[in-house]
Amino acid sequence: MQAAIHNGAAELKLPGLDAVARLGAAIAARLQPGDAVALRGDLGAGKTTLARAILTALGHEGEVPSPTFTLVQGYDLPGLTVAHMDLYRLKQPEEIVELGFDDALAQGAALIEWPEMAEDYMPDERLDVILTAEPERRATLAGHGRWAGLAPLIANEAA
Ligand SMILES: Nc1ncnc2c1ncn2[C@@H]1O[C@H](COP(=O)(O)OP(=O)(O)O)[C@@H](O)[C@H]1O
Ligand SMILES: [Mg+2]
Repeated sequence: MQAAIHNGAAELKLPGLDAVARLGAAIAARLQPGDAVALRGDLGAGKTTLARAILTALGHEGEVPSPTFTLVQGYDLPGLTVAHMDLYRLKQPEEIVELGFDDALAQGAALIEWPEMAEDYMPDERLDVILTAEPERRATLAGHGRWAGLAPLIANEAA
């Protein structure tokens, strides 16, 4: 299966959890401190599932609880520290600072569900992943900064 590329953004189908695991591995392989993966899409689109796949590819064993209520969950993994955030319940965008966002990016990478809640705080070094479940499960990847050229590579690797 080939990924579709338009203007540097890349789209691929995610027909099941194996496909999510491949996408997670392709993203994880390129993650560095200071990077954010902005996981966009409606409730049930697959944001937590992709975060889980990225963390698993980075060597995390065990559960990845959805940070719906804690808002942030930290993972100290062999090669990288990762903050998994869910901003859905953020009341003000600036609350993201209180969650330790700056430190998280200074020390490692961040996987962010509902980045729209603090859009102005999203870093320049970023991969946007737009997930949809209907009419079929898909991901559209758009890279910024260092990630600008990487979306097609990641999509082709995962497809
Ligand atoms: N690509 C996929 N193929 C099949 N099922 C998926 C896929 N992505 C997610 N799911 C399933 O959809 C449900 C919702 O996913 P979740 O990651 O919790 O969504 P979100 O975090 O966007 O609300 C879960 O049961 C998950 O296993
Ligand atoms: Mg979620």
